[in-house]
Amino acid sequence: MAPSVLLLGLVLSSASALPPRISFLIDSIDRPLVHFSLPDVQNTNMLLLSDGVSTLYVGAQDTILSLDISQSDVIRLKKQVSWRPTAEEISKCGMKGKNSQVDCPNFVHVVQPINSTHLYACGSYAFSPHYAFIDVESFTLVDQGAAKGHCPFSPYERSSAITIDEELYTATTSNFLGNQPQISRYFSRGRRPDVSLDSPISLLSEPTFVSSSFDPEQQKIYFFFNEVGKEFRFTNELRTARVAQVCKDDVGGVRILQKKWTSFAKATLNCQKPKHPPFNVLQDMFTLQPPEGSESSETVFYGIFTSQWSTQTASAVCTFRLKDIRSVFSGAYKNINTLQLVTHPYLGKCGLANSSDSNLAEVRKNFLTSRSVNPVGQVVVSSEQKYSRVVVMRTQAANSQHYNVLFLLTETGFLHKMVLLDQGPWIIEEIQVFTQPQVVRSMVLSASKGVLYVGTSAGVTAVSVARCSTYQSCGQCLLARDPLCGWSRTTKVCTSPDAHHQDLVQNLESRSVEEDCQEENKPTEVTEVGVHLNEAVKLPCVKSSNRASLTWTFSQSRSLPENLFIHSADGSLRFLASSRTSGTYSCEAEEDGFREVVVSYNVRLFPNPRHLPRTEVSQSPEESFEDIETQEPTRSSDFIQELETKTIINRKQDSRSENTEVPGDHMTAEDLSTKNKSNKEGYEFSEHAGFIAKSYHSELVVVSFLLAACLCVLVLGFLHTWRQKKTDSRSVLLEASEFYSKTNASTEICSLSSPENAGPDQTVTQ
Ligand SMILES: *[C@@H]1O[C@H](CO)[C@@H](O)[C@H](O)[C@H]1NC(C)=O
Ligand SMILES: *[C@@H]1O[C@H](CO)[C@@H](O)[C@H](O)[C@H]1NC(C)=O
Ligand SMILES: *[C@@H]1O[C@H](CO)[C@@H](O)[C@H](O)[C@H]1NC(C)=O
Repeated sequence: MAPSVLLLGLVLSSASALPPRISFLIDSIDRPLVHFSLPDVQNTNMLLLSDGVSTLYVGAQDTILSLDISQSDVIRLKKQVSWRPTAEEISKCGMKGKNSQVDCPNFVHVVQPINSTHLYACGSYAFSPHYAFIDVESFTLVDQGAAKGHCPFSPYERSSAITIDEELYTATTSNFLGNQPQISRYFSRGRRPDVSLDSPISLLSEPTFVSSSFDPEQQKIYFFFNEVGKEFRFTNELRTARVAQVCKDDVGGVRILQKKWTSFAKATLNCQKPKHPPFNVLQDMFTLQPPEGSESSETVFYGIFTSQWSTQTASAVCTFRLKDIRSVFSGAYKNINTLQLVTHPYLGKCGLANSSDSNLAEVRKNFLTSRSVNPVGQVVVSSEQKYSRVVVMRTQAANSQHYNVLFLLTETGFLHKMVLLDQGPWIIEEIQVFTQPQVVRSMVLSASKGVLYVGTSAGVTAVSVARCSTYQSCGQCLLARDPLCGWSRTTKVCTSPDAHHQDLVQNLESRSVEEDCQEENKPTEVTEVGVHLNEAVKLPCVKSSNRASLTWTFSQSRSLPENLFIHSADGSLRFLASSRTSGTYSCEAEEDGFREVVVSYNVRLFPNPRHLPRTEVSQSPEESFEDIETQEPTRSSDFIQELETKTIINRKQDSRSENTEVPGDHMTAEDLSTKNKSNKEGYEFSEHAGFIAKSYHSELVVVSFLLAACLCVLVLGFLHTWRQKKTDSRSVLLEASEFYSKTNASTEICSLSSPENAGPDQTVTQ
């Protein structure tokens, strides 16, 4: 027990991967997603891309779908085939103690191409696994039957299956309880028998199968999984990540090991970083095929690992080379019982069909390699994220260097796009793909389309691998360090390198962005803001990156005195309009030593709002909020949009009861500034602001009065409550202070301004 206690004592150090540079919440207009779901179809989480990349097959609950993905902005249902267990099967499943509604539908575990015309599918089928062949053309089930050993009985268990040359290789449990693991070949061609493990319980120990891969050069199939590491004597609880091999040509032995694998062997996968407990639980493994024209030994595997001991959400990404896996399997073995080293020329080899009984007896006893497979390159550790799935894309950057871009799905529904640069892992962006916890079985990438598909329990979501147009300046484009995006000096846009731009600038490894973007900076436009004396002004400034820091500068003074200005957490600057606060404001972002003006405002006081043309007032409120609703969304404008929505809501209330509104509150400068960001002249703008001021000026006085009255009542009420309930005073104080500190004054004032709500009790309980 001592060593495991020792391991527990190790403490995870802080994150090695920096936080994502940019975050996009679900369905942000800057990073749109394409969703597909059907109201009566659940668990659409087993995905298969067709070779032609225009079709996505989806194994779901009681059905298999064929989706048209030929267009990038929409996913359409092409065909659907229902595949439900019979009523009899469902009632049998219920009698075995399963919930017939929840556990007994047919959860499709496997969808694989079996030949040029058919798909193979395997489903849990009311805890009685069945397979089916699907004619791709007509999309109908042509043949089905019991498939014990093809896929798990349980809908919740993981398994792995791969079809090669019309044969099926599976790694799954093969009984109702899910405690009988098996690795097998089915639909064996020619006169070859179907083959399975000799004594699965001794060869595998409580395995969880994760994925599989084929090595065409050595004609071997690899299965990646976790199991209890039996070779560790001090505990029987230590889980170990493994890779197992079987040979495609294996037909079993002649006298012993008949119809059993003679080529089965397994090796440990190490994923560890100094000073960290080992990341010993494999979550997912992605096979990155070698670039075209390269040897298949150049294949690499990307694995996501978590730690058995860590209670924190932490995970690691380790990279393994096929070269190293091959070398470990062709090296020495150790006997799992005696732990003695065994070197025998037959161990781990293919083509042992005609071997002698004594050779096969050795093979049967020694199946664990003595060496482990060690990762290459950087071991990426994230102590904040628990990654669950990984997909990797090979790409060529503008400098013709190759980079691998990793897409890592967190359990909480964020997709992290990461590139491994010389100076370490770099998370270019994070994109939220779902909000509720979801079962994700597969995530597939169409590299040619540049789209990633995530299958969840609720539907299929398509995410484009990059959206360079989000980066609107040379600085932003280069700071992103995205191998999939570069700045074009001729067209002055951020675009993908495959668009044959010879003049594309990228800055993946740390060069100075300043140098590359010197001549590229556009002069910043100044937004004119007209305000009234003592009006609360809020100048928004949205950070273009999580790593940027913002600073405000003001033409009237070097520093912004704290008694006049409030810096909000959202980056905006707030102050009361006066002669001391009018002038030019600039919000500047600094990131990695690169400075860029985000936005500039020229704040001017209106001389006399009362003399503005009356005609403007005739505009009905309905018309004006229609205006706002139909306007073009501006960039990085989630925040601004929120403000706009608020404005619309307030205006709608306004049209119902004109008196309850406070001017300048619901229509402050920023609302107007977003209405026309590119307005350089400010004339039209200030006129508009004048109209607002005109129609509400008298109300300002009334409501200010009301507000003051409310405050008095509030204070009196507070004193009253304090005296009455001394014991409650603490919570009231807290709530009252919370009330005062609320930044969104509009909702507060709405409730205060309606007389029946003006009492202190109402305010405090709000
Ligand atoms: C593909 O497999 C299915 C199911 O076994 C079979 O019916 C069909 O004839 C096969 N097609 C070809 C072209 O081999
Ligand atoms: C095994 O031996 C038989 C008979 O000698 C031969 O026909 C067959 O090809 C051999 N198989 C292999 C895999 O070497
Ligand atoms: C914004 O201002 C520009 C230039 O002043 C003008 O062409 C455009 O029509 C305006 N847009 C709106 C929505 O008012």
